[in-house]
Amino acid sequence: MPDVQERSRIPAHMSSEAYTFHPACKISDFEDDRGVPVEIGDRIIAIFRTDGEYFAIDDACPHKGVPLCDGLVDQKIVTCTWHGWRFSLESGCGLDGIKSSVSRYPVLVEGDVVKVGILQSS
Ligand code: FES
Repeated sequence: MPDVQERSRIPAHMSSEAYTFHPACKISDFEDDRGVPVEIGDRIIAIFRTDGEYFAIDDACPHKGVPLCDGLVDQKIVTCTWHGWRFSLESGCGLDGIKSSVSRYPVLVEGDVVKVGILQSS
């Protein structure tokens, strides 16, 4: 069961029980504002730690598929290195009028292990 802080990252219309949390990496794998790519099932997910919080989004930029884990992070926003599309790490939404978005996933930290929540039905 995610702690109180992490439950707040789960969309209000869904309970934490809707997710299965998969061990993805360790806290020691992170540098602040640098993405860590992980493979969970058939997904490649980029996890970021910024301002002491963890965020997980699909790793592929919806523009040309470049890994967003290599993007520049500032104020909970990641900027793709190729053409500068920006995405909110909190919502996955594109910014600056970009209508594309990336899926985002809840993150749970247990000890040194960072886990990513995947909807059980997906
Ligand atoms: S590939 Fe990401 S903005 Fe073009």
